[in-house]
Amino acid sequence: MKILVTGKGGREHAILTALKRSNPEHHLFACPGSDAIASIATCVKAASPAQLVQWMQANSIDLCVAGEESWLVTDEGLANLCQQAGIPCWGPRREAAQLEASKAFAKEFLCRHHIPTASHKVCTTAEEARAASQQLPTVLKFDGLAAGKGVAVCHRRQEAEDFIEEVMEKRIFGPGNLVVEQCLVGPEISVFASLCSGAYQILMPARDYKRIGDADQGPNTGGMGAVACLEILKPEILATIERQIVEPTVKGLIADGLDYRGFLYFGLMLTDQGPKVIEYNCRFGDPEAEAVMPLLRGDLGQYLLHGARGQLKPELISFSEQWSVCVISASAGYPASSRSGDRIHGLESAGQDIEVFHCGTRRETDGTMVTNGGRVLAVVAQGETRTEAREKAYQASSTIRFDGLQRRTDIASLHFED
Ligand code: AMP
Ligand code: GLY
Repeated sequence: MKILVTGKGGREHAILTALKRSNPEHHLFACPGSDAIASIATCVKAASPAQLVQWMQANSIDLCVAGEESWLVTDEGLANLCQQAGIPCWGPRREAAQLEASKAFAKEFLCRHHIPTASHKVCTTAEEARAASQQLPTVLKFDGLAAGKGVAVCHRRQEAEDFIEEVMEKRIFGPGNLVVEQCLVGPEISVFASLCSGAYQILMPARDYKRIGDADQGPNTGGMGAVACLEILKPEILATIERQIVEPTVKGLIADGLDYRGFLYFGLMLTDQGPKVIEYNCRFGDPEAEAVMPLLRGDLGQYLLHGARGQLKPELISFSEQWSVCVISASAGYPASSRSGDRIHGLESAGQDIEVFHCGTRRETDGTMVTNGGRVLAVVAQGETRTEAREKAYQASSTIRFDGLQRRTDIASLHFED
């Protein structure tokens, strides 16, 4: 089967690796891919979703898998274009991808379908936002895509004031509303599911670590590490999440006439009042995919193809019961900026059962790998226990070096009881 995955980061490297492992016969393509991805997939360049779909048609691609979201939510919509061209696409059409693209759309969806979430107000002006965010702490969210920087959890008046000014007056993310939300408290968890025309399969819960520093200090990042295991949530909590959140979401999409096919990422907060939705993403998480994909067994390609055609076949895949831990190495300056061109040492010394996914690297003409982005590498290991997986991942990650490297030391230990 010829499968094309969109994206270029660690998540896409992990998805492509899982596709390859699950059936070495699959012929893999990535758009745009990366130098590291080029070792398992043919990288394709396209300037727009329309150009990519044309290329896929001309090259008889059997399945398009949306790794990242940006082309799903354009005016034309990657999945919409695939549908017109008759190419099965795993990833939702533009209308349903609004669950991620628009915070206001997601909040309205959650309220309409009585799914637990923080109370909120959509504000169209800076004055309105100031008035709605008087009570601290408060959460401010830009209503649009903002490369992971559109959310501010504000404990001080000045933080809220600065964010409102930048977003609503200086317009650093462009035009858009500001959603002011009640601040929820509790451990966060990501739950991943496959959705397909009213059917669903919960795949795996995972936890990511979003702040740059240990003990969740410092600014938010794309994610500095993740831990995944079927055991991460108590069965009764997972049952509540399924009943109160996953099922009503799937039913809500159908009731709203949205035929969702693809991964759906539920970003949840486990509050004292029960699990609540913080956000939806219409794709797998990054770095959660790097932790989850190595646990996957079965033929992922066939599974996604059937799903993209409208038939979810849970029996085609399963997950190992092990723990999986992903530790990210980030470049100097991240997340405010990132530094490219630092030479990476020790890549060849990662152990046998370790996977190294490339988030932001580039191969120089002399063959050496250098940093090329904020998050650089995801080092992933599995173990029978969380401690074993964690120790293996950190041991392997410690052999990798580059100037300015930033790495948290508490991935898969913070927020666990022992
Ligand atoms: P989001 O982009 O919506 O996932 O928000 C990014 C991060 O901000 C989340 O992972 C949470 O850590 C935090 N956050 C978002 N919404 C809330 C909320 N209502 N209460 C507390 N923290 C939140
Ligand atoms: N792990 C956060 C994200 O993928 O959005």
